[in-house]
Amino acid sequence: MTVKTPGREMRVLVLAAGKGTRMKSKKAKVLHSAGGALLIEHVANAAKAVSSHVSVIVGHQADQVRAALTGVEFIEQQEQLGTGHAALSARPAFEGYRGDVLVLPGDIPLIESSTLDRLVAFHRSGGFSATVLTAELDDPFGYGRIVRGAGQSLERIVEQRDATPEIRAIREVNSGVYVFDAGALFESLAGVRNRNAQGEYYLTDVFGILVEGQRPVGAIMASSAREILGVNTRQELAVVDRELRDRKRAALMTAGVTLVDPATAFIDMNVEIGADTVIHPFVRIEGRTVIGEDAVIHSFARLTNARVGSRSTVLDGSIVADSEIGSDVSVGPYAHLRMGATIADTARVGNFVEVKKSVIGRNTKAMHLAYLGDATIGANVNIGAGTITCNYDGVRKNPTTIEDDVFIGSDSQLIAPVRIGKGAYVAAGSSITEDVPSDSLGIARGRQINKPDWARERKKGK
Ligand code: UD1
Ligand code: CA
Repeated sequence: MTVKTPGREMRVLVLAAGKGTRMKSKKAKVLHSAGGALLIEHVANAAKAVSSHVSVIVGHQADQVRAALTGVEFIEQQEQLGTGHAALSARPAFEGYRGDVLVLPGDIPLIESSTLDRLVAFHRSGGFSATVLTAELDDPFGYGRIVRGAGQSLERIVEQRDATPEIRAIREVNSGVYVFDAGALFESLAGVRNRNAQGEYYLTDVFGILVEGQRPVGAIMASSAREILGVNTRQELAVVDRELRDRKRAALMTAGVTLVDPATAFIDMNVEIGADTVIHPFVRIEGRTVIGEDAVIHSFARLTNARVGSRSTVLDGSIVADSEIGSDVSVGPYAHLRMGATIADTARVGNFVEVKKSVIGRNTKAMHLAYLGDATIGANVNIGAGTITCNYDGVRKNPTTIEDDVFIGSDSQLIAPVRIGKGAYVAAGSSITEDVPSDSLGIARGRQINKPDWARERKKGK
């Protein structure tokens, strides 16, 4: 839902140029992930729900931040001299703009658009020139404190490092989310100085300046304090990650998915799972994975950008990455499907079978200990235990084709490029170097010789 006041425009400014020193990372803070998406993606999503005009201030690792987002505009902050300086670098882009500006820090991934809507509605109904979203925290350490004066009206915002012990005792904090009248914002930003503990230009100083100029300012408390949690450290990243995954788990259960042990179901936000699917304890489902209905995913499976059809089962310890499993399929335990493996409906891939960049046809079975790479395998094929497609000759990867209704005996090596024709058999233990025609038997192994009494003679000799 978007708040729309007729005749009044709303734009969003997201501050994402900082390094995030407290993360102790080579990577810019907003590029860290929580809940299966980058911090900046979460914030940009909330921003886009409020306005179609979103500007993101970039600086540190700007190219990566640009690459991570779509549908927003970027503004460069050359040097990171503080949040006030960041907002000020948007002034040229806002030249002549007379509406409101919603400002969001790029490091608060739990913020929800419904809260932003409430903030905007409060700002507009109160006729404020600036409004801050606040929250009461049990441990307000690190946040700017909300200092209220006579009649509880907002007086100023004081940063942790600039605060006296009395101000540090205040538990109402600044979320870093604000709505400003654009004119009031840029006029007062021009007056912000950097005489403070960090030597930075603070966006928060705008409130003190507006109050001194007798302009009306507002403050509204978020209904849930958790929503405004900012990520400045790895500890806070972990807290936020858990919260996002809790939300995802709750949404899946509401939609009819069984999580046997929700606490150990590790599921990214963009994953889709159909009703009546059961997820067992200690399962990890990542990226853009889509699972159908009535599927079962057993413990210690890891699915990354996978597709799993309805009624299929992924048994314990299996890895499915960038691969597709049809309906009524069974995979695992301890199977490894990767790089575009495609398993058709009703097929079975058993324990310790690796399938790389291969197609496995309908109803085909590869039940034990096999490597199938760069192979195209038809329907109703039986791949015996220990079958290996020798796809790599040291220079290039070569294809193996196995047509419908083929039987590959156990412990065979298929030395690619090679084709096994429809209905053919390959004898167990063969090293197949040439094509096997349809309906034929290919046998390629040393003949057995039995030497009678050999063993008895040997023992006698000793
Ligand atoms: C800020 C607020 C603090 C508030 C807290 C809420 C100020 C001075 N303080 O503190 O009152 O409680 O957020 O989370 O605003 N950024 C830039 N350019 C810069 C500096 C920062 O784009 O030059 C961006 C960062 O990338 C980040 C956001 O602004 O996404 C906030 O910066 P951060 O350093 O995390 O501010 P806090 O110290 O958390
Ligand atoms: Ca912060």
